[in-house]
Amino acid sequence: MLKSIQWKMVIIFVLLVWLAMSIIGVYIIQAVEKDQVDNVINNAISNANYLEYMLEDKMARPYEVQAMVNSWFAGQINQIKAVYVFNKDKRYVAHEGGDLRDPAEDSIIISQALEGKVAEDFNRFVDLKNNYKSIAIPIVSDDNEIRGAIYLNVNLSNINKTIGNIKSILTSATIWAMCFTVLMGSILSRTITGPIKEVTSKAEKLAKGEFDHTIMVRSDDEVGKLAEMFNYLTVRLKSTLNEMNNEKEKMETILTYMTDGVIAVSTDGTILHANPAAFKLFNLSQDHVAEKNFDDITEMLGLSFRHEDLFTGTKEKNDLIKIEDSTIRYSVVPFKNEAAETAGAIIVLQDVTEQENLDRMRKEFVANVSHELRTPLTTIKSYTETLLNGALEDRNMTLKFLNVIDSESDRMTRLVKDLLMLSRLDYDKAQWNMKEIDLTKILTDCVYKMDISAKQKKQSITLEISEDIPQTIGDKDRIEQVIINIISNSIKYTQEKGKINVSMWKEEEYICIKVQDNGIGIPKKDMDRLFERFYRVDKARSRMLGGTGLGLSIAKQIVEAHKGKIFLDSIYGEGTWVTIMLPIVSSVN
Ligand SMILES: Nc1ncnc2c1ncn2[C@@H]1O[C@H](COP(=O)(O)OP(=O)(O)OP(=O)(O)O)[C@@H](O)[C@H]1O
Ligand SMILES: [Mg+2]
Repeated sequence: MLKSIQWKMVIIFVLLVWLAMSIIGVYIIQAVEKDQVDNVINNAISNANYLEYMLEDKMARPYEVQAMVNSWFAGQINQIKAVYVFNKDKRYVAHEGGDLRDPAEDSIIISQALEGKVAEDFNRFVDLKNNYKSIAIPIVSDDNEIRGAIYLNVNLSNINKTIGNIKSILTSATIWAMCFTVLMGSILSRTITGPIKEVTSKAEKLAKGEFDHTIMVRSDDEVGKLAEMFNYLTVRLKSTLNEMNNEKEKMETILTYMTDGVIAVSTDGTILHANPAAFKLFNLSQDHVAEKNFDDITEMLGLSFRHEDLFTGTKEKNDLIKIEDSTIRYSVVPFKNEAAETAGAIIVLQDVTEQENLDRMRKEFVANVSHELRTPLTTIKSYTETLLNGALEDRNMTLKFLNVIDSESDRMTRLVKDLLMLSRLDYDKAQWNMKEIDLTKILTDCVYKMDISAKQKKQSITLEISEDIPQTIGDKDRIEQVIINIISNSIKYTQEKGKINVSMWKEEEYICIKVQDNGIGIPKKDMDRLFERFYRVDKARSRMLGGTGLGLSIAKQIVEAHKGKIFLDSIYGEGTWVTIMLPIVSSVN
């Protein structure tokens, strides 16, 4: 309790009052005492002067002196305790009253009186304690001759009584003042400490995160200002915390939903944060990362990267890493703490697998195109040179060579046409002649056209078309191109005397066309890449058969432009079947 400011203030007030009252008391008592003592002494001296006057010519007659002293003393009974008369030789002549004190002790003042001075003892406090004071006055004759001395013990007990009264009044006044001070002091200090207590309790609540408490501002003084500032502080703190929370949430949302992976690693390799994209890129779950160090994770992924490499120049800060089938680009950026020292590093991970694949495909495409164009050109060039070098004379040879040159130019023309077609499809520049089409007729015509080539290989083509095929919308020439490519593939990649079956039926809102052969088939590993440009299972064989590897990719683009689907399935060595599904559309729009 005594620790509280309120009680400290009360104690200080009380001590101040006590000190003030004590100082005042001492001064009052001293002043009263001096005044009283002076009064009594002066009175005694003037009374003694009367005795001196009576005794001045009777000193030679001791009996008269004694009688005089007796009658004088009777009138002074309350003021004088004792009176002694000495002759000029300091010899005792007469006395009256109690012999409290041996006049010999005061022989100095008696001697002084015999020298003609009014003398008194100087120790006022000792006198007061003894309740009397000694004075001595000379007995002087009319002709100024010193005849003796009167020595008196002046009674001071009345003064002590008065002072005792004053002291008790002062003491009780002090006690009352102190009690009053305790009361007033506690009320006054409470008005100061009350708001401070309120601020303290509100601050405690604030520390617990309760921001909805304000303090009533009751005054305009320092304490009022403190309350006002506290309220302002609460509001500012609340809004700052809200802002920080919002920022944090924003950051967390960004980190959670961004497609790039972000990992924060401290200088000792502890993983501070990893966002879901980072988990996904590294094929990890939260459990993998919990309690784990950056080095444990990289080791688990089989990477040679260690956390020290993030902060030293030993590894590239921007490079590619391979994790299973994915290619990931990482960039490392160090971050600093408030003291501007490196506190860790942020690693940003980007899945560039698709980009890498596209890049590889683009390079392959360019290489393929140049290769496909160069091969016929080389053939044409060498045949032409041979002819120019004299082979022209041989008519048979010339005819054979010109046929080769012709077929190689056709091949180049076809290739360029296919490439142009693909590029138009790529850039959506293809002109579509969308009209109502009769797929039954188209398919029958295609099979008819291809029958000639099949016959050359002694293959048989059978055709089955269900009767409920409706009309639909499409580009006749392009659909024909697709069907012919698929049937021609079957013819090309099926041995002599093989069987090819072409069928068409309606399935819900689709018309399905299936071309099935019992040819060489396609190995499983190549199946996924068949629709890629220039992809051929057996390059040499395809080339020999006149293929460039663009047919299926063009077919896929055309079918997809009709909002249809194309699938290829095959059993290696047994046969292949391609299914096209075209949606049934009733009007051009
Ligand atoms: N019916 C099939 N049987 C076996 N292999 C096939 C069949 N159809 C396609 N293929 C394989 O798929 C590859 C790609 O076919 P695609 O039609 O795209 O090219 P291509 O026939 O070689 O050349 P293009 O069609 O441009 O003249 C072929 O090279 C062939 O290896
Ligand atoms: Mg083909």
